[in-house]
Parts: sequence; C-alpha cells; structure tokens
Amino acid sequence: MAIKNVGVIGGGTMGSGIAQVAATAGCKVKLFDTKNEALDKAKAALDKILNRLIEKGRIDASEKSRIQDNIQYVNTLKDLGDSDLTIEAIIENLDIKQAVFSELESYVSDDCIIASNTSSLSIASIASSLKKPERCVGIHFFNPAPLMKLVEVIPAIQTSKEVLNLSVQTIKDWKKVVAVAKDTPGFIVNRVARPFYGEALRIYEEGLADFVTIDWALKSKGGFRMGPFELMDFIGNDVNYTVTETVFSSFYFDPRYKPAFTQKRFSEAGYLGRKSGRGYYDYSENAVKPSPKEDSELANQIFDRVLVMLINEAADALFLNIASAEDIDNAMTKGVNYPKGLLAWADEKSMDWCVSKLDELYDLYHEDRYRCSPLLRRMNQDGRNFFS
Ligand code: NAI
Repeated sequence: MAIKNVGVIGGGTMGSGIAQVAATAGCKVKLFDTKNEALDKAKAALDKILNRLIEKGRIDASEKSRIQDNIQYVNTLKDLGDSDLTIEAIIENLDIKQAVFSELESYVSDDCIIASNTSSLSIASIASSLKKPERCVGIHFFNPAPLMKLVEVIPAIQTSKEVLNLSVQTIKDWKKVVAVAKDTPGFIVNRVARPFYGEALRIYEEGLADFVTIDWALKSKGGFRMGPFELMDFIGNDVNYTVTETVFSSFYFDPRYKPAFTQKRFSEAGYLGRKSGRGYYDYSENAVKPSPKEDSELANQIFDRVLVMLINEAADALFLNIASAEDIDNAMTKGVNYPKGLLAWADEKSMDWCVSKLDELYDLYHEDRYRCSPLLRRMNQDGRNFFS
C-alpha cells in the first residue's frame, strides 16, 4: 500500500514544512490547525517559499500550482478522516497530544498510520492513548523540514513491523534520508549532539577560551559550518537549553548531559540569540564581532576535547542499540550538517586516540561525564574499527 492522503496536524513551523514536503512528493495533504490565523500564515509562507524557488529556477509556475493544489487547509480534525498517514506537529505537551490522538482515531480508518513529530516525548506514551497503539510511530523532521535531509523514524515498543516499514518507505519516497532510532530521549541527533554545546560551554566556564575562540577552533580545526555558540544563538538559547534540560532529566540525571549555568543565565537574561538581537554575540546593527585568539595549540585542544566527547556519545548510542552505525553517522551529517559522521571520524582518529583522550579527561576530572564508552574500549582492545 502506498500512502496517498496525508493529514498534518498543526500548521506551525514544523507542520507547514512537513505539508510542503508531502505535497511536493505528490501526496494529497490536509493541513489542520485549530487557529485559522495559523493556516493563513502557513499558506502565505508556502506561497513565498515557492516564489523564491521559482526565482532560483528550481521549480516553474506549474510545479508551484501542483504543490499548492495538493494542500488543503482545514479547521476540523474530522476532515482528516480519509488519511492514510497523519503526522502531528502541535504543541509539545503529552496530555494535549494524547487527547488529539484519541479523537483522531475515531475518525480515521483502521489502517491509518498515526505519527508524531515530537522531539522530546516518548512515542510509547503517545501511542498509549490509541485503541490501536501498533499504528503509532515517531516521524521526526528537522527544521526547516523541506531543506533538512534527515528524518528520524522511531518505532515505539507497541509499533507493528508493517507500520514501521511503510513509514520508512514513505519518508524515503519523499526523498529524505531515514535514520531509524530507538524510542529513547533525544532519539539520535538531540542526544548525540549534546556535547557539541555542553563541552563548549564547559570549556568556556573553565576559562580556557572565550566564545569566539571556541567557535573559531571548531570551525577551523573541525570544519563545522558554525561554532557551538553561533549555533546556540541561531537555535535560540531558550530552546537549546530546554532540550538539554529535558534530555538530562529523561536520562535520570546522568551527569554526561548536565546543563550549563552559563546557558541558563543567558536564557534567563533574555539573551536568546539572533531572535532577541543578543546572545553570546551581539546582533545589533553596528555591533563589531570580537576576534578569536588564534592560537593553534589551544584550538587543537578545544577541538579534540569536543570531538572526542561527541564520538563517545555516538559510540555509546551504538553500544546501547539506539540505531545502526550507518544511521548514527547519517543522522549527524544529514540532520545537523556535521562535516563527517562521528563514528567514521573515530575510525580516522583511531580507537586508541579516542580511548586515551577520554581517559585523560576522566583522570583529570574524575567526573562520570568523561567516562569512556565500553564499546570504544572493547573495540580498541580488539583492534577493530566501526566501518572497516
Ligand atoms: P509551532 O508552535 O510553530 O506550531 C504548533 C501549531 O500547532 C500552532 O500553529 C498551533 O496553533 C497548533 N496547535 C496547537 N494545539 C493544537 C491542537 N490541539 N490541534 C491542532 N493544532 C494545534 O510549533 P513547532 O515548532 O512547529 O513544533 C511542533 C512539534 O514539532 C512539537 O512537538 C515540537 O517538539 C516538534 N519539533 C519542533 C522542531 C522545531 O525546530 N521547531 C523540530 C522538530 C520537532
């Protein structure tokens, strides 16, 4: 069975992007929101995006009309009754999502897949609101959904094999790269990426370097497109801090994910980043960007420390069967544009380098945060690599 009719619930940032992706792929989409203003905004935003694509020569006017004609904007949930697949992208609140899911189930056919785009709630808890929880799955897009190649597909423990397979196939048909992830906090990307921010903040808090020097180190030595502080300012310090806090508490306060006071204070002060005009950097019109301390030795230290913590997180995700090695690496290159997959990077650096660096940090701090993944240690002992 191929998915033809798609219902998208919530016409905000994510829902409108998901609707565009499905409509571009040729599905008939109904985009539902309780607020008519949200639907008007989604419609106008799509028009603008498609016009820009025409200007860039990516699509022509007939393609624009085809995509627009594939989307209907509706204001009752019942309108989604003929969907083969629904994807929910409403407010991140379990009670509200559960209420919507259970109402939706009374309108759709028995074989309709009911998916959630949640970033932080467990798919099992959302699925539990359904009479047929086996039809529920996580389909997690990245922002902006039409541009970001990666989609994490997350089966709950209740999800049937058929629903998982059809969801994966559908998302591939929509020309996205799928990474299948276990239903655990942060799935792949939001878990594995934590040290990019957390270790950078820690390095700053220890007074080893300032924001701009840390950013410069990660960009110049690691080839990251943005440094961690630039990226936090881009995402929004409030949003990024909340993800960190949620991951930390969801992991029963594993010190590895401990949030940083610096980020909390920046959030509390309203220094949210680009959107508030000020974050770690000043975005006002005449602001002068500070210069990094271009010390190559220091940059190497900073880069090595952040990289090895990222590798450790990726290795531990593999160790705990969160996803396959290929999916973990794809997730980071396609979901957050890392220059290389972290496991491939570990191979390049060597297992011995990874284990020694982590043990050095652990010996210095004696904090659980720096514990080396048993998988890295075992692979080093066995002389194995992730991909060769
Ligand atoms: P948003 O605030 O931009 O949009 C949410 C929309 O849902 C609003 O238009 C609102 O009117 C509507 N809504 C709220 N309650 C509703 C209900 N009961 N029925 C129908 N519509 C309702 O939120 P955003 O950023 O699009 O996030 C939506 C979901 O996607 C959340 O679960 C979030 O965690 C997840 N997500 C967000 C990402 C992001 O970068 N913004 C990335 C990946 C996932």
